[in-house]
Amino acid sequence: MKIDLSGKTALVTGASRGIGEAIARQLGAAGANVLCAARSVERVNQVAAEIVAAGGKAEGVELDIASPAVRDRVKALLEKQPIDILVNNAGITDDDLFIRMKPEAWTTVIRTNLDSAFNITQEVVKKMIRARWGRVINISSVVGMMGNAGQVNYASSKAALIGFTKSLALEIGSRNVTVNAVAPGFITTSMTDALGDDARQKLEERIALKRLGTPDDIAYVVVFLASEQAGYITGTVLNVSGGLYT
Ligand SMILES: NC(=O)c1ccc[n+]([C@@H]2O[C@H](COP(=O)([O-])OP(=O)(O)OC[C@H]3O[C@@H](n4cnc5c(N)ncnc54)[C@H](OP(=O)(O)O)[C@@H]3O)[C@@H](O)[C@H]2O)c1
Repeated sequence: MKIDLSGKTALVTGASRGIGEAIARQLGAAGANVLCAARSVERVNQVAAEIVAAGGKAEGVELDIASPAVRDRVKALLEKQPIDILVNNAGITDDDLFIRMKPEAWTTVIRTNLDSAFNITQEVVKKMIRARWGRVINISSVVGMMGNAGQVNYASSKAALIGFTKSLALEIGSRNVTVNAVAPGFITTSMTDALGDDARQKLEERIALKRLGTPDDIAYVVVFLASEQAGYITGTVLNVSGGLYT
C-alpha cells in the first residue's frame, strides 16, 4: 500500500515545531501541498522551504489561531486554493492546580485549543462539503480521556475536541468528509522538554512501550488518516500513547 496525497492541499496549524512540524513534513513527503501555519512566520517559512528542498510542495503561512481575525485569514487562504486536509494541531498548556487556576489560564487554553477548531473548521468544511471530499484531523490528547492533575483547562479542551470530532463526523459523513482525532500520549517536544530526568523516567515506567513518543509517531498516523485508504474511518479517536492509556 502506498499513500499518495499528490493533488491534495493540507493546512497544518502549529507547523513551526514539534508534532505539527513533523506532520507537515510527512504530509509533504506523501505528496501533499502543505500550508505550514503558525505565528512564527520565519520558522514556518523555513519548514516549508525544507519540504520544497526535499522535493515536496509547501508554503509558510502566518496564522494566529486564537486571534479574532482567524476566520478572515482562513477565508483568504481558501480563496487561493481549496483545503482538502485540515490538521487542527496547534495547542498550548497553561498548567496549575484547579483551585489556583486563574480565569485567564482557563480562557486562553480553551480559546486556543478549542475555539480555534470551531472557527477554522467551520470555514474549511464548507468547501470540503461542496467538493464531496475532505479530511479533518484534530490533535487531542490522552489526557482528554484519562485526566491529568494540574491540567483541568487543557484536559477539558482536549476532551471537548473528541466530542467535536464525533459530532461533526456524524453531520458530514454523507458528504464524504471524514473527521477523526488523534490522541497522543507523551511526545518529545518543547511541551515535554520541561520534564526533569527524574520525572521523565517515572513517566517512562508508566508507558507500556517504555519510551516517550516521537513527533513522527503521531505524523505517520495523521498521514494515514488523511489518505484515500482511510476513507472508511470517521468519528474515531486514535490513541497513540505507547500504551500509557489503554
Ligand atoms: N507533546 C505532547 O506530549 C503532546 C501530547 C498530547 C497532545 N499534544 C498536542 O499536540 C499538539 C502539538 O503539540 P507540541 O507538543 O508539538 O507543542 P509545541 O512544541 O509547544 O508546539 C505548539 C505549536 O502550536 C503553535 N501555536 C501555539 N499557539 C498558537 C496560536 N495562537 N496560533 C497559531 N499557532 C499556535 C506553535 O507555533 P507558534 O508558537 O509559532 O505560533 C507551535 O507550532 C498540541 O495540540 C498539543 O496539545 C502534545
